[in-house]
Amino acid sequence: MSLCQGQAPRPGPTAKVPVRQGGTSIRAVFVADHHYPRRRGLYGERILPRLVDRTCGIAQLDPLRARVCEPLAGAVLEIGFGSGHNVGHYPPAVTAVSAVEPADTAWRLAADRVAASRVPIERSGLDGEHLPFPDDSFDSALSTFTMCTIPDLPRALAELARVLRPGATVSFLEHGRAPDADVRRWQRRLEPIQRRVAGGCHLTRDIPGAIEAAGLIVGPIDAFYLDGAGRAVAAMTLGTARVPN
Ligand SMILES: C[S@@+](CC[C@H](N)C(=O)[O-])C[C@H]1O[C@@H](n2cnc3c(N)ncnc32)[C@H](O)[C@@H]1O
Repeated sequence: MSLCQGQAPRPGPTAKVPVRQGGTSIRAVFVADHHYPRRRGLYGERILPRLVDRTCGIAQLDPLRARVCEPLAGAVLEIGFGSGHNVGHYPPAVTAVSAVEPADTAWRLAADRVAASRVPIERSGLDGEHLPFPDDSFDSALSTFTMCTIPDLPRALAELARVLRPGATVSFLEHGRAPDADVRRWQRRLEPIQRRVAGGCHLTRDIPGAIEAAGLIVGPIDAFYLDGAGRAVAAMTLGTARVPN
């Protein structure tokens, strides 16, 4: 059953939808979402998630994923869950994960990782801009390579701040605006192409700046270029931000 392709938004209270794949049953829990589906088309829904699974699944990212997941604890919200490449890196302090992911194919590709996880993981929402949770629901949040893509990032960050309890942390590993002017010029040139082929992914977003503009307190950030990739797409920031008390 497709949950986000061309269907009318389902009215009513929380719907529990068992998603079966290859003998594995994974519960997907949705609160009625009046904002999805967005039309993503065959490329966005079927092909792109597979490409992203490959590119985001490279072993080179594992140490970075381990680092960004380290501060997570308690009830965690992961936005842009993708095919679950962070699952193996959740630390023991994590008690449950609510996954927000619009692409059904990505969620299906995550099936084995979700099934093998020590931590219970539920697909609980489809859109970071409209989170179906009450205020102060989570102790931590995680976003990796997602804030580049969410169409209205300020809105998604406001939602994130709303559903996190005061003092909660957001862990992020994102690519974005490069520190060097020559690289930024290339980012501006390439961004229209990148947005078309990579599902709306922006190259020029100042991610820490956007997080700060949402009222979160950004901690020390590690900014670096990932080895082996063109610098326009390789300008990374890794860090945490805190919801004010
Ligand atoms: C480049 S992938 C990263 C996936 C995963 N976080 C990782 O690190 O492997 C970006 C993800 O953001 C998801 N995404 C796109 N728009 C979104 C939105 N409005 N809310 C939440 N996730 C979104 C995409 O479906 C995709 O899975």
